[in-house]
Amino acid sequence: MKDSGARGDSFTRPIWWEGDGPADAVVVIDQTRLPHDAVTARWSTLDDAVAGIGSMQVRGAPLIGVAAAHGVALAMRADPGSLEAACARLAATRPTAVNLRWALDRMARDLSEVPRAARAATARRLSQAIADEDVAACRRIGEAGLPLLRAIHERTGRPVQVMTHCNAGWLACVEWGTATAAVYLGHGSGLPVHVWVSETRPRNQGAALTTWELAQRGVPHTLVVDSAAGHLLGAGAVDVVIVGADRIAANGDTANKIGTSLKALAARDAGVPCYVAAPMSTFDAACPDGRAIPIEERDADEVLLVNGRRIAPEGTAARNWGFDVTPARLIDGFLTDRGLFTAAELPEAFRA
Ligand code: MRU
Repeated sequence: MKDSGARGDSFTRPIWWEGDGPADAVVVIDQTRLPHDAVTARWSTLDDAVAGIGSMQVRGAPLIGVAAAHGVALAMRADPGSLEAACARLAATRPTAVNLRWALDRMARDLSEVPRAARAATARRLSQAIADEDVAACRRIGEAGLPLLRAIHERTGRPVQVMTHCNAGWLACVEWGTATAAVYLGHGSGLPVHVWVSETRPRNQGAALTTWELAQRGVPHTLVVDSAAGHLLGAGAVDVVIVGADRIAANGDTANKIGTSLKALAARDAGVPCYVAAPMSTFDAACPDGRAIPIEERDADEVLLVNGRRIAPEGTAARNWGFDVTPARLIDGFLTDRGLFTAAELPEAFRA
């Protein structure tokens, strides 16, 4: 993975194809370098894609799926016979976000019908189509959420106070984001909106990524520590909580970044509505409830070290779950590319 050296504040997507023919490459914003360096990395091989997803150069459920599709396309260029093996390697990179499996299943199904000689070109086209579809889906998620924000503003007459968690913005998708889509649509149309961003220990996606992308688009926001959520919600400083999702079970139980369930609990106690924003590719009908969702456990050093310095005594045990499950009963609604649903309405939404 080479740093292309490209810099700038004008990115509109976190992933794209560069060039045509044998030297083409996938370019991603290297999210491990934000907010300090807005630089890209180039993926030329399947190995690059596997390493890039694994090391979280790209992250966020929809983007992981899009990136995996691009990884398959790189693999098809090198060896059109490696479809199954490439999908297996990409599937093993991260376990919780079902969008990864969704995209790989789609690539495998469609490409298995295609003669090997045509697989590279078809795979590239398909990966681009998956990226473009994500843009359209996220915009529709925003359209589902915008009336809620407008109604809040009409009721309160002040800027709408949205609390989010982690990064479920355009850096986690392709454009718009999920949790941020209604915020961006509202901001773009003159609706006053302010976002409370929680830092999202231990990888700080809120502090490093959500603040960065909101600032790029000029959306007012304030960073708080994760444990400030109860205080803010209890003090009436938040009108609505909107978070993304990595996997939504058939009953509406939702896996998202660790800490989401505490926000949902505090929101319910404070009488603040909590919405999950996600495309249909995040719904997993095969998971009956949250207990069936695999939760990624990451290296304990992410908890034990801050900026390379140990913050706990040597020998301290630590656990580092990347996600938690918010029970459906704490979620007021799902903002999706097919509209707004309650948990009770989800089975129908799956079938549609
Ligand atoms: O570990 P990450 O950074 O991939 O986790 C991301 C999240 O939990 C997001 O909230 C989720 O994927 C929704 S992205 C639109």
